Amino acid sequence: MTVEEKVGQMNLYNGFWNVTGPAPEFGGAATKYEHLKKGWVGAMLNVRGTEEVNKVQRIAVEESRLGIPLLIGFDVIHGYKTLSPIPLAESASWDLKAIEQSARIAAIEASSAGINWTFAPMVDVSRDARWGRVMEGAGEDPFLGSLIAIARVNGFQGDDLTNENTIAACAKHFAGYGFAEAGKEYNTVDVGLSTLYNTILPPFKAAEEAGVKTFMNSFNDLNGVPVTASTFLQRDILKDGWDFDGFVVSDWASMNELIAWGIAKDKKEAAKLAITAGSDMDMEGHVYINELAALIKDGTVDVKLLNDAVSRILRVKYELGLFDNPYKYGNEIDEETRTGSQPHHESVLDMAKKSIVLLKNENNLLPLKKEGQTIALIGDLANDKSSPLGSWRLASDDETAVSILEGMQNYKGNTLNFSNGPEVFKGTSTFLKELDINTTDYSGFKDAIETAKSADVVVMVLGEHGFQSGEGRSRTNLELPGLQQELLEKVYEVNQNIVLVLNNGRPLAITWAAEYIPTIVEAWQLGTETGNAVAQVLYGDYNPSGKLPMTFPRNVGQMPIYYNYKNTGRPTDKDNNVFYSHYSDVDKTPLFVFGHGLSYTSFEYSNVTVTNTYESNREVTVAFDLKNVGQVTGKEVAQLYIRDLVGSVTRPVKELKGFELVELQAGETKKISIKLTEKELGFYNNEQQFKVESGDFKLFIGGSSETVLEANFKI
Ligand code: IFM
Repeated sequence: MTVEEKVGQMNLYNGFWNVTGPAPEFGGAATKYEHLKKGWVGAMLNVRGTEEVNKVQRIAVEESRLGIPLLIGFDVIHGYKTLSPIPLAESASWDLKAIEQSARIAAIEASSAGINWTFAPMVDVSRDARWGRVMEGAGEDPFLGSLIAIARVNGFQGDDLTNENTIAACAKHFAGYGFAEAGKEYNTVDVGLSTLYNTILPPFKAAEEAGVKTFMNSFNDLNGVPVTASTFLQRDILKDGWDFDGFVVSDWASMNELIAWGIAKDKKEAAKLAITAGSDMDMEGHVYINELAALIKDGTVDVKLLNDAVSRILRVKYELGLFDNPYKYGNEIDEETRTGSQPHHESVLDMAKKSIVLLKNENNLLPLKKEGQTIALIGDLANDKSSPLGSWRLASDDETAVSILEGMQNYKGNTLNFSNGPEVFKGTSTFLKELDINTTDYSGFKDAIETAKSADVVVMVLGEHGFQSGEGRSRTNLELPGLQQELLEKVYEVNQNIVLVLNNGRPLAITWAAEYIPTIVEAWQLGTETGNAVAQVLYGDYNPSGKLPMTFPRNVGQMPIYYNYKNTGRPTDKDNNVFYSHYSDVDKTPLFVFGHGLSYTSFEYSNVTVTNTYESNREVTVAFDLKNVGQVTGKEVAQLYIRDLVGSVTRPVKELKGFELVELQAGETKKISIKLTEKELGFYNNEQQFKVESGDFKLFIGGSSETVLEANFKI
């Protein structure tokens, strides 16, 4: 290979339209075609559909000198055409098998359209709901996040990457993006090494151990070094520390951004910094393709770095089987039959139901009665067939979700009066335009209130539009946008039997609603089958079992808020003293805690025992009884947390270290047994060594992080 051909493998071009980043300042379609022919392109993104993919693949394979096939990347984030719930919602299921299956279906549909590489899963832990991308992750917890990362990698990659329906996954964004200061998109990240090693890195390590083929670096800087130029992250930790033998792709033009960050004076320097740090592929930055060959030739950059990057990229191509058959991804028949099949719809419906979290259910307003109830359904979002698809749905068509109105209409026994409510979401909801959430149009209020007055039960669908979260959608206000809060209060004045169904891509501060509204259902953005899933839960055909993967705050000022906080030296107000760790204007507790979620039945926890077998086989086994004490069958996520009481460094007050999703008939009891090994008992100390420290531990068990059973053990 010539130097130019090697550099070409490290060049990832966007397709010929502008989809997931700003329009490139250089290199239009003609240049890109030319480069394909010369073998100067290693991969493309945002080219999809058998016909389009084969067109570019044919140029690379049949017209370039070496005929090296292309990687075809795409953001397959929560489905391709048939959409699953947004990733944060799926994470609320705590159902690892279902999450893996959801990624499997996404891979089957995407691969049939020619895609062989997804830019997923996003495994960034985040504790700040202001950050719009929390919708794309697994929430705030590194333990749950790690298991979900593994499930998603396995779902995309399957057990044989050479199969034509498995695709290479990409653990992103390595690392720290979820800790952007003030939750502001693309912002600086300054975290200590303890947070980095104990909170941010574990899901990435889990993905690596699961065999993820690629990593994407992140837009942020980390402690003063933009990640694209971070040798510490990409070489010391990932490649040398974890022995990762896949490759690292930059985020969109993040090499160019080294100039704006102020650590490179020009693109030449940016290229040198990026390759030295271990960024193997340049996503639509045109930095490597324009600068790298000269830097190699004049000796500024060691050719060994180039060879290392190229062999990593070629290895992934080999592992995908592209050298045996570059056209195996995407054939028109598969694309037609595999996309949107009935089994795929059934599967995303199943995932959607599992993702719903029942936050509150007073007066047994839910389940709704199937016959004889007059129901008022209120809110623009109830009649929306696009918003439930959520953000990151580049291949799906608008208006393809089953709306909540449609889902509820399937239950004909009831009288359903629909009111559109106020037009809270003025403006076009296109991908790039921001929504006007400040409308002062009250025109729908009258209709909504009249509808509510005469109903037995009012179902109000409120929250965020699908494009109010996602990349570039940070917010400083976590309350219901627009006039929705006002509408809720006005409707409450005429009818208090309200079931509030939330649609949102992040935790919201719904403090008033949590106090006054008797029933609240967290329905996120649930994808293609949204309306059917919501209706089946509201009518009790499906008993909800979701649990929050992120803490819900009382107000935005509590951000960041999370369950595994540090105790501080002044944790509680013993004597009504002002000098303890708290706020003076709002309770320091969250509105809804991590792990919270109700069911139409209830569960009782008892008889906890701990068998300490550490000396012999380095394990602690925890057992307890879980009983369904209600009237119907239900599922519960039994959660186990530990606290290392005295450590060499401060330890969190609680850390999730195990859980089990259990289905129980009414009256049934099961013994649950969870093993804790060194992996769960240890942590990274301030020398970045993973250690189990001997001493006293406490363990906590329950149906949320507000646990109900406790026990002690010693290591
Ligand atoms: O994969 C994404 C990334 O998460 C954010 N920037 C654009 C990439 C490609 O679309």
